[in-house]
Amino acid sequence: MFLRWSYVRFLFGLRHMGANWQVGDGREQALADYVCAHARRHDIDDVIRTIDEFCYTKSYLINVGDEKGRILDRAVAAARPRRLLELGTYCGYSALRIARAMPADAVLYSIEFNPANAAVAQRIWDHAGIGDRVVVIVGTLGDGGRTLSALREEHEFISGSLDFVFLDHVKEEYLPDLHRILEQDWLRPGSVVVADNVKYPGAPEYRAFMRQHERVRWRTREHRTHAEYQKVLKDLVLESTYLG
Ligand SMILES: C[S@@+](CC[C@H](N)C(=O)[O-])C[C@H]1O[C@@H](n2cnc3c(N)ncnc32)[C@H](O)[C@@H]1O
Repeated sequence: MFLRWSYVRFLFGLRHMGANWQVGDGREQALADYVCAHARRHDIDDVIRTIDEFCYTKSYLINVGDEKGRILDRAVAAARPRRLLELGTYCGYSALRIARAMPADAVLYSIEFNPANAAVAQRIWDHAGIGDRVVVIVGTLGDGGRTLSALREEHEFISGSLDFVFLDHVKEEYLPDLHRILEQDWLRPGSVVVADNVKYPGAPEYRAFMRQHERVRWRTREHRTHAEYQKVLKDLVLESTYLG
């Protein structure tokens, strides 16, 4: 019964997702209020636990979630990255998981299209005490060069400097944005790219690209899993190592 109800809440949450990537009923701000009221300050584990609790018991949110989050945790820990890039911050949940798994001297740069989501994430990160290890940048990699040049000129993104990328934004932009990163020459052999939602909602061109280049330019592991916060809809997370 619990599983069926969480699936219904999942579909209901999606139905209200607006074109600006907010559900539109204030639930992202409600999440930040809930975290500040219920999670222990500067306790990252408790902040992550509190966000999951909110999503299972109050309102569905499009975070990577706990099940796929564990795949992300393991990929980050195995890569031991120093410089990381996330596309799609939303409320900062995946960034919390990444920050917890990455080395203490690593920095995560997270790109978010919607300034209201970036503000929610910043508030939650400050509560978790990771505000100095995660940098949110409002923009997109496809905004005519503005965000790419900010990364190059203000944040020292140089050739071969990027160890880890998490793709979790608009699915049609996974492949174009990967190409933008490759054109900048930021990856090095051994850099890891993790992509969420490859089965649901689906990023078929991205999956086909990785299959086409398997063992030539990329080596990919496909993780079979479920869409966030329910056990009915199946999803895939791709973990790809760049071979150069
Ligand atoms: C699925 S949510 C990200 C969830 C987040 N990674 C997590 O697990 O906590 C997608 C986010 O990507 C943002 N977004 C949409 N298009 C984007 C783009 N081209 N570049 C960066 N962010 C984008 C949306 O505003 C939304 O906040």
